[in-house]
Amino acid sequence: MRKLLSRLLSLLLLCLISSAQSIPPPSSRSLDALLQDYAFRAFLRPRTGIPYHGNVPSNFTGIQITAMRLRSGSLRTHGVKSYNEFQIPVGVLVQPYVQRLVLVYQNLANWSSLYYPLPGYTYLTPVLGLLTYDASNLSATNLPELEIKASDKPIFIRFPQLKSLPQTSTPQCVWFDLHGLPEFSNLTSDNVCSTLQQGHFSIVAESSAPSPAPSPPTDEGPKNPTGGGEDEDKSRVWIIVGSVVGGFLLLVLLGFLVFWVQKYKHKNQMQQMEKAAEVGEALHMTSVGNTRAPVAMGTRTQPVLENEYVP
Ligand SMILES: *[C@@H]1O[C@H](CO)[C@@H](O)[C@H](O)[C@H]1NC(C)=O
Ligand SMILES: *[C@@H]1O[C@H](CO)[C@@H](O)[C@H](O)[C@H]1NC(C)=O
Ligand SMILES: *[C@@H]1O[C@H](CO)[C@@H](O)[C@H](O)[C@H]1NC(C)=O
Ligand SMILES: *[C@@H]1O[C@H](CO)[C@@H](O)[C@H](O)[C@H]1NC(C)=O
Repeated sequence: MRKLLSRLLSLLLLCLISSAQSIPPPSSRSLDALLQDYAFRAFLRPRTGIPYHGNVPSNFTGIQITAMRLRSGSLRTHGVKSYNEFQIPVGVLVQPYVQRLVLVYQNLANWSSLYYPLPGYTYLTPVLGLLTYDASNLSATNLPELEIKASDKPIFIRFPQLKSLPQTSTPQCVWFDLHGLPEFSNLTSDNVCSTLQQGHFSIVAESSAPSPAPSPPTDEGPKNPTGGGEDEDKSRVWIIVGSVVGGFLLLVLLGFLVFWVQKYKHKNQMQQMEKAAEVGEALHMTSVGNTRAPVAMGTRTQPVLENEYVP
């Protein structure tokens, strides 16, 4: 029982540590793999440079996917004027070199914040993904992504429409690399973000709810003009500090609980042992009484002695 408890405790600790670290949920990679598979299924006899819309399994209703096959030479020299929201300029290089590649487009729609949670921010657009794969085997699954790099001009993402903006916050572009790590940047213009690489993209605004740093207003004055980046870092630090302290408190509480449970158990055991001893004695007594009752009774009254005295 003690072993089980300590194991449970260490498991909890592990959970706490990993939850503090895992800002990107591991499932976004498996979603990429699943969507690659389903996007490739959209190709029957694919012509190059034509977008094909894929169907997602019913448990992912809402997500939209498109696949387009291209020669990598054509991508470099012509780019793609318009691939849904993406505008790919000339000069995009693919590594490692493949003859043909597939650009998989994802629109995560209402699944965006589930797969790319971003605490402290509100999504103003769905998360859009652009990922590159080797086109040499169109029935392959679990393909690794290729790397693409815009060398001349950046790739533009023209988001159709922003959700209404929370007051006092400015919209920012966010880019998630393949590990799910976010990186923020300024909008290129209204509704437009730019990137040199593939990944997942959206426009976010800081949500007004959390205002964690308890700093005097005199401090905030000179800090604001330097840019919002510092405030973000600060709020993230506070979130991490908060969760660590919270986790620690929880652990201490759990420790107390375990201690108390064990103490209680010990006490209970002692009581039971005492009880058992008592019962044992009682049984012993009764067993003696049962077998030797007449003898005992006889010795107690002892009429024989009286007779001895009388004569
Ligand atoms: C959704 O369905 C697909 C195919 O039916 C399956 O491979 C996948 O594991 C399911 N995912 C979830 C999260 O239910
Ligand atoms: C997204 O919307 C679709 C219906 O349009 C629904 O079936 C699906 O469950 C929703 N996904 C999430 C994560 O809420
Ligand atoms: C393509 O990939 C599928 C699935 O991984 C595999 O079964 C098949 O042998 C591959 N074909 C070629 C030509 O490599
Ligand atoms: C983003 O824009 C703000 C003002 O709009 C500016 O102060 C800041 O330097 C810009 N940041 C970057 C990384 O360009």
